[in-house]
Amino acid sequence: MMKTIFSGIQPSGSVTLGNYIGAMRQFVELQEDYDCFFCIVDQHAITVQQDRLALRKNIRSLAALYVAIGLDPSKATLFIQSEVPAHAQAGWMLQCVSYIGELERMTQFKDKSAGKEAVSAGLLTYPPLMAADILLYGTDLVPVGEDQKQHLELTRDLAERFNRKYNDIFTIPEVRIPKEGARVMSLQEPTKKMSKSDPNQKAFITLLDEPKQIEKKIKSAVTDSEGVVKYDKENKPGISNLLSIYSALEGISVADLEQQFSGKGYGDFKQAAADVVIKHLAPIQERYYALIESDELDQILDEGAEKARFRAGKMLKKMENAMGLGRKRK
Ligand code: TYM
Repeated sequence: MMKTIFSGIQPSGSVTLGNYIGAMRQFVELQEDYDCFFCIVDQHAITVQQDRLALRKNIRSLAALYVAIGLDPSKATLFIQSEVPAHAQAGWMLQCVSYIGELERMTQFKDKSAGKEAVSAGLLTYPPLMAADILLYGTDLVPVGEDQKQHLELTRDLAERFNRKYNDIFTIPEVRIPKEGARVMSLQEPTKKMSKSDPNQKAFITLLDEPKQIEKKIKSAVTDSEGVVKYDKENKPGISNLLSIYSALEGISVADLEQQFSGKGYGDFKQAAADVVIKHLAPIQERYYALIESDELDQILDEGAEKARFRAGKMLKKMENAMGLGRKRK
């Protein structure tokens, strides 16, 4: 039987080059060999307050981007999390097998709650919802960037715990992290990951940035004063980040790039890096603008939600039976 893949992206802002290189790009190759479910996880996005209209816009935009990067709705199921109620239902059940202590230890929770007075309970219980997303589909493999590794470990722990305590119904999922570009860094603070919620717009490139903006952002990326194009994550995080981006997009090894740019200045290197990013995003943007207002996009999402509801519904029933919820039905 074909193995199953699940992954999700939050519609909490514009999709960044980090999301693309770390996660989305892998999705496209994987759709050929796996039964794939790619989700727009809007219920995760509301763990911090979102502007209603902006959220709606970002959900649709992410859906169009899924298709624009090359996901084929006849191969991969594309859907919106809140349109498949089983996610929230299973999320609750998995909260009931989660321990507060292990949720408080999640790095993302610690980062997002540090120094804040009003931290939503949803921010704490986000990982069991993510586990529900994954486990509802009998997922074998989860392609994500490196920052999600800890959430995946927790997902595996919760699945094993549920299997042991109730009934052995969950597949234990494996994580899949790309070799190059698993952690794309901020262009302004290259020791921090590139994030769509960064208040500094110059820190990230979005998939919809125009060529001029991309060029400007890469040219003003923070580097060092040594003037040598060489990978050294410790001492040259800015240049190393641009090398990784270049390498990941073009499929050229970092060593080959170092050779190609030896004796050249940062100006030349940054121009070449900008050209590579622009070249890769141009066809995506073209398809995006053709899709964003189309009825076709709604059809894709309607069909995706239906397929996902059917599949997730079966596992939800098994979970309810395992825990003894409701009445026994055939
Ligand atoms: P999110 O929306 O923050 O990011 C979506 C995907 O992009 C990856 N990513 C990065 N990769 C490389 N460099 C970066 N700077 C970078 N920033 C983000 C993330 O690792 C992720 O793969 N909790 C998830 C969403 C989620 C999910 C799921 C993922 C919800 N349910 C089930 C997989 C399976 C998140 O916040 O991703």
